[in-house]
Amino acid sequence: MSSIKPHGGVLINRVATGAERDALLAEAAKLSSIIVNNWTISDLDLIGVGAFSPLTGFLNEADYRSVVERMRLADGTVWSIPITLAVEEAKASELAAGQRAALIGEDGIVYAVIDIESIYSVDQKHEAVNVFKTDDMEHPGVAKLFSRPSTYVGGTITVLNRPEPEKFNEFYFDPSETRRIFAEKGWKTIVGFQTRNPVHRAHEYIQKCAMEIVDALFLNPLVGETKSDDVPANVRMKSYIALLENYYPADRTFLGVFPAAMRYAGPREAIFHAMVRKNYGCTHFIVGRDHAGVGDYYGTYEAQDLLRSFPIDELGITPLFFEHSFFCTKCGNMASSKTCPHDKADHLTLSGTKVRALLRDGVCPPPEFSRPEVAKILIEGMSSQPV
Ligand code: ADX
Repeated sequence: MSSIKPHGGVLINRVATGAERDALLAEAAKLSSIIVNNWTISDLDLIGVGAFSPLTGFLNEADYRSVVERMRLADGTVWSIPITLAVEEAKASELAAGQRAALIGEDGIVYAVIDIESIYSVDQKHEAVNVFKTDDMEHPGVAKLFSRPSTYVGGTITVLNRPEPEKFNEFYFDPSETRRIFAEKGWKTIVGFQTRNPVHRAHEYIQKCAMEIVDALFLNPLVGETKSDDVPANVRMKSYIALLENYYPADRTFLGVFPAAMRYAGPREAIFHAMVRKNYGCTHFIVGRDHAGVGDYYGTYEAQDLLRSFPIDELGITPLFFEHSFFCTKCGNMASSKTCPHDKADHLTLSGTKVRALLRDGVCPPPEFSRPEVAKILIEGMSSQPV
């Protein structure tokens, strides 16, 4: 087993099996039901398998208020993103603390039951400003927050059915599985890499810099809900597979998805991403420029600064910080301001918008920006997507 401890010390398992599952499924048919969307199903599944350890359910009121105010659970454990179950007020009025309710998908499947600890109203503006540092509705995380009801139901959950991946099943691993696999491979130090984008040369560069000092890379792309102009997960998956096959040592890399929704909460999400990768068994975690950011809501290195503000023993995973990286034509290499003495004019920088426009027009970005195998897959993928 991986030597790194899960966040909070114990890998949570809230997935019922066998007779316990049968009994709860039978009981669920008679319980009050809460209809949950795909986002919530993804959250509850990740809680169930321990990816969100030490959470055992959706945040109760005390934990919620503590997370929003001070990035800690009520018991002091570092936790930066509120993982909550929002319900319509009319539904909430049918429920009470101490009750059990069934969490049912729009497909009619009972995904879990929740043992309700508290039902509470929240000030969404306050949550937005604390978590996202803005209440601007242009921010996708803020828009999402305001689209949900402002009454939350907190309590421990028990998962009864798991969501079925539509594609790429072979890249879905629970934290208990990645921990076992890393141990079997004999890896002692593993660096986790979060991404919601295709892996371009700058990503590759910082991953490989990290790989020079650890045993292996866990490429862990987020494949849950993202904003509509991000490259879809199925296209990205093909590009990751091609990239690894062509440019990475197979015995030092492992690809597995992170089936969570993207919050775009920048610095706070960087903390959350690091804690989750620790639960998957990583000992190190890469944080580059504007991690989990969107637009210009966060400073380039704000996520790094926030991580630095927590004592390392409380994080329990070592963040590896990287400066903005680029290809320098004078160096003839990938570099960053830490390693390159040349002028900005010598650096190849392409904005995401510019790259998307090139790909949509069927034009490969330069090889100094993106590997041709990756660009080819993105061009094929983008041509089948709405503009
Ligand atoms: S994120 O929203 O998942 O953070 P992205 O997939 O672009 O977005 O980034 C993945 C990781 O690579 C993050 O840690 C980010 O900070 C880092 N990163 C992305 N581009 C660069 C770059 N040019 N230089 C340095 N780090 C980068």
